[in-house]
Amino acid sequence: MCGIIGYAGPLSAKKIILDGLAQLEYRGYDSAGLACFDDNQTIQIKKSVGKVTSLQSLCANRLEDSHCGIGHTRWATHGGVTVENAHPHQAGNVTLIHNGIIENYHQLTQEFHLEDKLVSQTDSEVAAWVLNSLYEGDPFTAIQKFLPMLQGSYGFCILFSDRPGEIYGVRNVSPLVAAYTPSGSMIASDLTALIPYTRSYFVLPEYTIAKLTAYQICLYNHDGKQITPEYSKVNWDSDAAMKNGFPHFMLKEIHEQPEALKKTILPRLVKGIPDFSDDGIPDTLFSECDKIQIVACGTAMYAGMVAKAIMEPLLRIPVTVSIASEFRYEQPLMNEKTLTLVISQSGETIDTLAAMRLSASMGSKTLAIVNVKGSTIARESDYVLYTHAGPEIAVASTKAYSVQLSILYLIACRMAYVRKAFSLEDAANFIQMLMDAIPSMETMLHQTKTIQELASHLISHSDVFFIGRNLDYAFSLEGSLKLKEISYIHAEAYPAGELKHGTIALIENGIPVIAIATQDSVFAKTISNVREVKARGAYVILITREHAHVDAELADIHIKIPEISDHFTVFPIAVVLQLIAYYTTCLKGLNVDQPRNLAKSVTVE
Ligand code: G6P
Repeated sequence: MCGIIGYAGPLSAKKIILDGLAQLEYRGYDSAGLACFDDNQTIQIKKSVGKVTSLQSLCANRLEDSHCGIGHTRWATHGGVTVENAHPHQAGNVTLIHNGIIENYHQLTQEFHLEDKLVSQTDSEVAAWVLNSLYEGDPFTAIQKFLPMLQGSYGFCILFSDRPGEIYGVRNVSPLVAAYTPSGSMIASDLTALIPYTRSYFVLPEYTIAKLTAYQICLYNHDGKQITPEYSKVNWDSDAAMKNGFPHFMLKEIHEQPEALKKTILPRLVKGIPDFSDDGIPDTLFSECDKIQIVACGTAMYAGMVAKAIMEPLLRIPVTVSIASEFRYEQPLMNEKTLTLVISQSGETIDTLAAMRLSASMGSKTLAIVNVKGSTIARESDYVLYTHAGPEIAVASTKAYSVQLSILYLIACRMAYVRKAFSLEDAANFIQMLMDAIPSMETMLHQTKTIQELASHLISHSDVFFIGRNLDYAFSLEGSLKLKEISYIHAEAYPAGELKHGTIALIENGIPVIAIATQDSVFAKTISNVREVKARGAYVILITREHAHVDAELADIHIKIPEISDHFTVFPIAVVLQLIAYYTTCLKGLNVDQPRNLAKSVTVE
């Protein structure tokens, strides 16, 4: 949450910061602000509520000759959406931007007698005043004294009034990446802001202080010793973070799925079956466990629900899926024979990170499935399998979900092979069926007419129900999340058989019910449940495989996916459900890529 960027160099700091904030807006978009040294080497601060475009207007014809500054786009945690609460915060000599939460801000306020000084309600301003109290002209000494006083997570970029041309960065948990580029020194919360200027970057190590000037970036550890940054190469180009002719990032990312799947799966196939040797993953990881624990949040967690439904019957070991934010309080049963699968697009979700750390502390081996290279979860897990979706910019996750699923299917297959539940031939067949699912996604990408028609029906309703059984239920969960998070229509996924134990009371004339029936073993039972809602007046949108036999009058709209094996229908179904959410939101005239109250990367608990 919260996008951060800092720049020192020969170019216009204002332009680089505003462009960077526009790229980072998916991290939070309540308000935005920047602070730059002007041509008199005095810090000028501009802040506004709303989108980065408001800040751009506010800065028009100002700060034209600035070469050093910091900028922030906010997702409110402490304090409402006001100009005062927007970053940067200035306290005496200190001007800073912050991502994270300072948990002991209240105690610090009292300890440093700040009550009368604060103009905002933020923990970040408290941090600025504390640092200012410690500052006696030497930024390092002040920051070194400051860090042990803080509880919580932080990524800070700091300017000191008497140090024009210098930016200081430091972090704990919250991400910061930096690069010295031909255009100058840059630091940001995400790579997307750096990509237009460089293909090399480094992740700022925790508690390391970075000093950026126009000429270099120096890193110092907590003893004040200078250390060398470890640069990595970006594995995607700047085009990947553009809309490339699509009206929205979400639609572009939906369309990118078949390619992303191929990029994720193909390099890991040897003789037609999954092989993780190049990822450094030994087969013993899969043969020596007797339980799988999946931890994740949001869409990633729903990918985990699909994995459970695939893995448990195949491997015959317990597979538990936990919402990462609940995991720590469940007192989970884990030991060194538990394999923890950690799923995260960003690799920074703080609850997922905390859940992974808890698993590791209980002796479990951790295998992370992550999209962002070098992210905290990727670095801290015992093993990592990167998905190759490229940058996902739309807040609602689409391609990250399907590539996460593809990796989970590969893991299921390799585990089944290693544990002798699959012969070589079984494993190869399984992978062939997985590959067959990719063209079926392409087919569904072209079903826009039917989907737009059903979207036009959904927009006049405030509630939509998704039903399905077994795997179809797992798909429904993600479908309902997608719809509610961007269209703001209340959407609820229900196991079709459970509907009659309460939720069916909500079904009345015209209520849309999206019924997914692609699983052979429960098909007839799901269809019976569809009849039950139809009998109560529901407007039924039925999704089945092509050859499924259903009475024409049962469905108001019938969407057919290609005839692929039922274990793999999630891939075309995901496209359908994503397009339903997308077109419904477009028809309602809402902001598809940046829905209200949400942020792409949730780095606060
Ligand atoms: C946020 C995003 C979701 C995402 C979830 C988990 O809520 O808006 O799209 O599924 O975080 O994020 P992660 O990066 O850990 O997959």
